[in-house]
Amino acid sequence: MKSPITSLLLILGIVSTNAFVPQSSLQKTSLTQSNKNLSPSTLILEASSAKAKKASRSSWAERRGIISPYASESSNEVSGGKAPKLIIAGAPASGKGTQCELIKEKYGVVHLSTGDMLRAAVAAGTEVGKMAKDFMDAGKLVPDEVIIGVVKDRLEESDCVECGWLLDGFPRTPAQAEALASAGVTADCFIFLNVPDEVLVERVVGRRTDPETGKIYHMTFSPPEDEEILARLEQRSDDTEEKVKVRLEQFHANVEAVKGSYTDIAVEVDGTSKPEEVSQTIMRAIDSVLV
Ligand code: AP5
Repeated sequence: MKSPITSLLLILGIVSTNAFVPQSSLQKTSLTQSNKNLSPSTLILEASSAKAKKASRSSWAERRGIISPYASESSNEVSGGKAPKLIIAGAPASGKGTQCELIKEKYGVVHLSTGDMLRAAVAAGTEVGKMAKDFMDAGKLVPDEVIIGVVKDRLEESDCVECGWLLDGFPRTPAQAEALASAGVTADCFIFLNVPDEVLVERVVGRRTDPETGKIYHMTFSPPEDEEILARLEQRSDDTEEKVKVRLEQFHANVEAVKGSYTDIAVEVDGTSKPEEVSQTIMRAIDSVLV
């Protein structure tokens, strides 16, 4: 079932049903029993080295001792039979993506990063990607109309309904929060990472990503394990000092209104401590709302 906004965009030809999907990825991905019900937007994220990503992330988390003994159990066992519905918010480079890897690992939720989805669309050259590219390159938010329908549709898919979801980078405007509320989408916990602006700039310029595993590094705080990984690390085009200023302006213009929509379920976390300490605080908060 498509939302009215997505339907309208489809009619206008602004998005297509494969809007987020590079054809090459679809062609390369064989539809197995387990993934044949997933949408094209899911397949694009799962097509690239899913096995390698999982192995890498697990061992990374295990090395840091931040995976609980429950990590090998099913998500339902961890969450007491309830599919968790989580939102993580915070400024650019506050550590959302880093924490999402760990939350996903423990609770088995579907991680939905609108930034990752949009970057995949840009890389694939889809209509949505073409529309989003200039906004993203400038450090600005893409228009609400482009992203809202896509997220709402994705949340209705069976994997999100069955396993629960973790929204990363959405909602980030009052209109996006209102769209979720009016669609009846509610969350169990709204996690907000608090990090001062001066810390964020250093995190942004030092961030690198491994295109093979999806793992996030920092050249100072979390450097790659070996030369081979170092050689293939990539830097995001919006990770410059100049662009992060624009991204921070956009963030500050919207953050209070977005937080105001979730006061009853909000948990503010100090995002300046070590990732494993941040993670422990977050997981305690999630556990307390899932009992
Ligand atoms: P998006 O990809 O969502 O970017 P963002 O919100 O700016 O967040 P980041 O991905 O930059 O940072 P993060 O918080 O995930 O930090 P990370 O864990 O990587 O969005 C990109 C663009 O897409 C937007 O600008 C916009 O154009 C568009 N967009 C996306 N969603 C949209 C929406 N809903 N509406 C409209 N437009 C949208 O960590 C950062 C670095 O710090 C890493 O190097 C990491 O190793 C390091 N680090 C992490 N934690 C710690 C720690 N505790 N201590 C030290 N270092 C740490």
